[in-house]
Amino acid sequence: MTGVEPMGTVATERGCPRPRAADAVAPPSTSTVREEAAAFYALPELAAVASPERLAQVRASIDATGTYEHTGAELLLGAKIAWRNHARCSGRASWQSLELYDARHCSTPAEVAQACWEHLRLSTNGGRLRALITVFRPRRADDDGIEIVNPQLIRYAGYRNPDGSVTGDPLHVELTDLARHLGWRGAGGAFDVLPLMLRVDGGPVQLFDVPADAVLEIPLSHPEYDWFAGLGLRWHANPAISNLTLEIGGLAYTASPFSGWYVSSEIGARNLGDDGRYAMLRTVADGMGLDTSRNDTLWRDRALVELNQAVLHSYRRSGVHILDHHTAASQFVRHVDREHAQGRPVPADWAWVNPPMSASTTPTFHRTYDPPDFSVRPNFVARQAGGCPVTGG
Ligand code: ARG
Repeated sequence: MTGVEPMGTVATERGCPRPRAADAVAPPSTSTVREEAAAFYALPELAAVASPERLAQVRASIDATGTYEHTGAELLLGAKIAWRNHARCSGRASWQSLELYDARHCSTPAEVAQACWEHLRLSTNGGRLRALITVFRPRRADDDGIEIVNPQLIRYAGYRNPDGSVTGDPLHVELTDLARHLGWRGAGGAFDVLPLMLRVDGGPVQLFDVPADAVLEIPLSHPEYDWFAGLGLRWHANPAISNLTLEIGGLAYTASPFSGWYVSSEIGARNLGDDGRYAMLRTVADGMGLDTSRNDTLWRDRALVELNQAVLHSYRRSGVHILDHHTAASQFVRHVDREHAQGRPVPADWAWVNPPMSASTTPTFHRTYDPPDFSVRPNFVARQAGGCPVTGG
């Protein structure tokens, strides 16, 4: 979570007159909405869901009210194209399978939270993960919209200890401080699911405990190393990204959590491996009896492979869908070729579409891509960094 900086202070203490908007970017002007709507309805894909008269109807609505509403079919197609356009996603081969849970009727924080639990249940689907996006109402010109503070619906707490070490996920120390500041009391474990924090129209951030039946977790064991299970590692099945704004045709859906499925290296190489995260490589190498006193024994690399093997083994054994990085990479390059054959560019960020381990053993490594283009719409855009969701400071 970027920008969650001055935790432990509340808006009034900081003298902040009004918490900041979900996006620091000002809502688009009427003329921008008009232009972006026209560009959206001009996409060739739209012909399948919008009649030729539809744009005139949308224009009339924008002239009268400054905005307009997408039909469910337009929203789903817009979300699919946003996924297809997102330069940092290597899972785009599945873009056409995206499903929509239309939650635009939700207005209170409690209703939003309920819909998020429904999102988790539907997309986790007992381990047979489904690509699903839940879309809440877009931000209007005169309000701040709905903001989910957590970067994913399921995140593990990170508790800063007096000696400076962290119990749990160091990535979420600030988010954990915010939750505690708002009254949450975590159990103090290494894998405590943080409460969902969200707010509506610049109101106070409200906190909701994620119901246990909405969170599928997988305890990690290794196919050969019996001691591995004793490390007590686990991870959740569902990566449900919740801090990106979905922009379609001039409308900004500031809350639109979406789920796919994990690639094992996201968990085994980054979340559990990175020094700034759970940093498990030395522990695993010790278990394997490797010499960790020298770099050139390649103990880090060997531990990394076994950690990833444990992730794949455990997810498979629990019946939870996950991809290894070789399969994910070959799906991605096939997708790129297929799109090119259709005459469509595939803007891609090389560093993001390559796996964080063994990259040169995968086909994503040995080629170049159409340059990332973050101005293409529809798309998922990052919330503006800088600014505490409580204080706006
Ligand atoms: N890398 C993030 C994580 O480890 C998840 C990003 C989205 N990944 C996905 N497979 N949909 O939690």
